[in-house]
Amino acid sequence: MKFSLVSVLAGSALASASWVKNLNYRSPSENHPGMGIALHKVNKRNTPDKQFTADQLNFTHGIASGDPYPDSVILWTRVAPAGPPNGSNASVSGYVPLYNHGPVQVSTAPVCVQFKVARTPDFKEVESSGTAYTSSDIDYTVKVEASNLTAWTRYYYQFNICNSNKTSPLGRTKTTPAENDYVAKVGLAIYSCSNYPFGFFNAFGNSVRKNSVDFVVHLGDYIYEYAGDGDYGYGYSINRIPKPERIIYTLLDYRERIATYRTDQDLLLSHQTYPWIQVWDDHEVSDNTYRDGASELNNTEASFVMDGGVSVDQRKMNAVRAYFEWMPIRQSKVEMDDNLRIWRNFKIGSLFDLIMLDTRQYDRSITDLYWNTDYIHQISNDAGRSLMGSRQENWFYNTLGESSTRGARWRIIGSQTVFSKVNESVSYGNTNPLDYDAWDGYQANRNRTLDYLTKNNIGNNIVISGDSHASWVSDLVWLDHSNYSVSSGAGGLGVEFAGSAVSSPCPYGANITINSANNYSNWLEANNPELHWNDLYYRGYFELQLSYDEVNASFFGLPSLLTRNPYEISLANFTVKSGENRLQRPIASGIAESGSLKGGQVQQTNATNNTQTGEWIVSHFNMSVT
Ligand SMILES: *[C@@H]1O[C@H](CO)[C@@H](O)[C@H](O)[C@H]1NC(C)=O
Ligand SMILES: *[C@@H]1O[C@H](CO)[C@@H](O)[C@H](O)[C@H]1NC(C)=O
Ligand SMILES: *[C@@H]1O[C@H](CO)[C@@H](O)[C@H](O)[C@H]1NC(C)=O
Ligand SMILES: *[C@@H]1O[C@H](CO)[C@@H](O)[C@H](O)[C@H]1NC(C)=O
Ligand SMILES: *[C@@H]1O[C@H](CO)[C@@H](O)[C@H](O)[C@H]1NC(C)=O
Ligand SMILES: *[C@@H]1O[C@H](CO)[C@@H](O)[C@H](O)[C@H]1NC(C)=O
Ligand SMILES: *[C@@H]1O[C@H](CO)[C@@H](O)[C@H](O)[C@H]1NC(C)=O
Ligand SMILES: *[C@@H]1O[C@H](CO)[C@@H](O)[C@H](O)[C@H]1NC(C)=O
Ligand SMILES: *[C@@H]1O[C@H](CO)[C@@H](O)[C@H](O)[C@H]1NC(C)=O
Ligand SMILES: *[C@@H]1O[C@H](CO)[C@@H](O)[C@H](O)[C@H]1NC(C)=O
Ligand SMILES: *[C@@H]1O[C@H](CO)[C@@H](O)[C@H](O)[C@H]1NC(C)=O
Ligand SMILES: *[C@@H]1O[C@H](CO)[C@@H](O)[C@H](O)[C@H]1NC(C)=O
Repeated sequence: MKFSLVSVLAGSALASASWVKNLNYRSPSENHPGMGIALHKVNKRNTPDKQFTADQLNFTHGIASGDPYPDSVILWTRVAPAGPPNGSNASVSGYVPLYNHGPVQVSTAPVCVQFKVARTPDFKEVESSGTAYTSSDIDYTVKVEASNLTAWTRYYYQFNICNSNKTSPLGRTKTTPAENDYVAKVGLAIYSCSNYPFGFFNAFGNSVRKNSVDFVVHLGDYIYEYAGDGDYGYGYSINRIPKPERIIYTLLDYRERIATYRTDQDLLLSHQTYPWIQVWDDHEVSDNTYRDGASELNNTEASFVMDGGVSVDQRKMNAVRAYFEWMPIRQSKVEMDDNLRIWRNFKIGSLFDLIMLDTRQYDRSITDLYWNTDYIHQISNDAGRSLMGSRQENWFYNTLGESSTRGARWRIIGSQTVFSKVNESVSYGNTNPLDYDAWDGYQANRNRTLDYLTKNNIGNNIVISGDSHASWVSDLVWLDHSNYSVSSGAGGLGVEFAGSAVSSPCPYGANITINSANNYSNWLEANNPELHWNDLYYRGYFELQLSYDEVNASFFGLPSLLTRNPYEISLANFTVKSGENRLQRPIASGIAESGSLKGGQVQQTNATNNTQTGEWIVSHFNMSVT
């Protein structure tokens, strides 16, 4: 009796220091502990009879790193039991089956994990290490901040289960340069819209196989909330059915959905190899979300009943909590009192600021919900509308100003939705020719941004955006306001690179032919003066290589998503010279693989490049995911 008491007390003293290392125990709010996990209750379960042995645990969904700073980075993993703890009665207490959709059973002891970080994969000199607990309360996820690191340095990291040699896969990550440091070149791979039942996430793996960048940026739609086959997907034919096989609402639903996505081998490979900087778009919660609802979620009793008894706020909270549990992102700025803020800025040396916006969940005015399109069209130019909410808008403009004042060469603005005006009457018709769910539905917010840049004489701005499942490359211009020259690009304030989807289907038809897609592109390019290249056909991604003199953008298309494969096609390359605030002419050197290029040619070569030049990473990491 006495002995066990002592050991429990000793356990809790050790525990108290280590609980808080797992940032996920603070989810969803640091300032409202009552809404988080009652740690003293979890700690009470930390008794030997309820503990798992290392044999009963596995690293189930790989590892990840993210939100790099000059001196620290977030590390993530998940360690879960597959069976009941030794000696427990599975049907009453111990066993927490994966996503059983029943009440969350929390009566097992927490699991203890350690992490270490070093510059070499043999961990001869560990520069950061620590211990943390996890448990069923937070879906057995582990999220820790590895501190004490050196700026602009590549690191390797690994987790192990405490008092055992059972280790996670080996991970690689990198810190950012210090705020005012010179850094000759930084590479980013930029992704959006990864929809599991629409194909393999080969795009994520290709930048790993090429070893071509430093950081990965994901602009959102990391998961989709739809029913199993993703609405018109073909997941059944390629054995990619995200669980649960219905539209998701509850915390368990969102956890299980993310868990399914996090089995894609190339997604795992990307998380293992590169630190990610990511934001959500709408589908991390629900289609076309805004401040008070979503396309399938009205703020009414009838809608709550239809949606499984879950209100707008509850559903958002479930989605957001699961997101923070599973994504390697910091939560220091995220606070319920601040509408679950995710928008944040990264100062990457004196080379650039990466300004990540939340144009979806934070505080956007009502959007196109399909039944109100005419109305949203009518109000789309109202001065009071905001895509971001006034608090985020103020922060955004101040951050642009500070970035310019501190002398950062470039401002890279991560937006979920396409920023530039796009007249799409070729497919939408002339009544409502714009995408009112994008910046076109919030013209005042766009004007305020352009006005701030113009008045403060801030150049070298590059908007990167996702959401649209197509590629759009434009000069960044205040149409009908500045004196823009289509041929020279004079009058621009920068450039927009909007990328295609990792797998989500073409908006002009899921199985569209390349000829038909290119016909649409021809119309779009011809009827939108600032749009210089558009491609609708290819799923893919793009990379930015940034230096002080210029930014180079390379767009890649994926020939097939029906299997896991490393092939890609170079679609088009663009250059932006510092100080020019427009695409370098001749645009894309006058040649693109598909779509429509203003003043240039489209030459379809179908030349696939097997991108296994960095294959060593795969073998080096010996990735095993169970
Ligand atoms: C852990 O993974 C291995 C390899 O896939 C498997 O054989 C074992 O059953 C798993 N154990 C648990 C506890 O999940
Ligand atoms: C389970 O518990 C029994 C009794 O305490 C012990 O003999 C056995 O070694 C344990 N098994 C494992 C796998 O830990
Ligand atoms: C486990 O619990 C169930 C439900 O309370 C009970 O029926 C069963 O007898 C228990 N089994 C053991 C081995 O204790
Ligand atoms: C920080 O890293 C240095 C090595 O770079 C190491 O000597 C020191 O012990 C570390 N400090 C902590 C608190 O981890
Ligand atoms: C871990 O491995 C080392 C070397 O193989 C061994 O000496 C040690 O006992 C192991 N530790 C545990 C807890 O299994
Ligand atoms: C598109 O093609 C896939 C795979 O061939 C097929 O399963 C799916 O039904 C098609 N979708 C549409 C909308 O035609
Ligand atoms: C929301 O309200 C609109 C307009 O009344 C209606 O068409 C739509 O079906 C409603 N949706 C839900 C999920 O309640
Ligand atoms: C869209 O383009 C069509 C064809 O050029 C034109 O008639 C229409 O006025 C344009 N609409 C907008 C909102 O620019
Ligand atoms: C935004 O700017 C455009 C182009 O100058 C103008 O047509 C539109 O009326 C402006 N809207 C608002 C709300 O300022
Ligand atoms: C883009 O640049 C790469 C590297 O120089 C080159 O191999 C590729 O052919 C270019 N793509 C196009 C479409 O011009
Ligand atoms: C490229 O592939 C398409 C079918 O995907 C085919 O119609 C076309 O002829 C090919 N072009 C070349 C130059 O090989
Ligand atoms: C793919 O591109 C790489 C790097 O440019 C080049 O070394 C390799 O030869 C290309 N492979 C094929 C199959 O064209």
